[in-house]
Amino acid sequence: MGELGESAFKILFTEEQIKNKIVEIGMQITKDYKRENLTVIGILKGAFIFVADLIRQIHLPVAVDFIAVSSYGSATQSSGEVKIIKDLDISVKGRNLLLVEDIVDTGLTLKYLLENLKSRDPASIKTCVLLDKPQARKVEVPINYRGFTIDNVFVVGYGLDYDQKYR
Ligand code: IMP
Repeated sequence: MGELGESAFKILFTEEQIKNKIVEIGMQITKDYKRENLTVIGILKGAFIFVADLIRQIHLPVAVDFIAVSSYGSATQSSGEVKIIKDLDISVKGRNLLLVEDIVDTGLTLKYLLENLKSRDPASIKTCVLLDKPQARKVEVPINYRGFTIDNVFVVGYGLDYDQKYR
């Protein structure tokens, strides 16, 4: 199965709802990190649009880097296996990290990356996710900033893909 039929699409959140939510999260992050250094780490590919919009709502001299992991391949089921395909360019030692993810499903990706990044000796590490699917969770992960909680349905758009398409 390579394509989703047009009829499969249903709008979950409007552009305006997403924009308003990101303004809200950005304000909170700006407040929380006012006196701290902050490095945003986007998880590729899914988070690239969210990160681009989010950092413009964080009114601080924020550093940005990306890490890419393999997750779903072409299926809609998580293999549970996480592998870093592209590592960070910068050293995160002593820095306050905000790990930004498009969606938390099983939680395996976030858990793996949290442990991996913690081993690099950052000053602190928090998470920010646009969408949370709590019903699909296999491992518990801390979510510090959350956009929306959704049912256990497969979603596309705003960076999220199906078989690399519909982002
Ligand atoms: P987890 O490791 O199972 O939490 O999955 C995280 C990753 O799976 C996300 O970063 C997405 O790339 C992908 N993913 C999970 N659910 C969806 C979905 O509904 N649509 C598109 N991608 C998803």
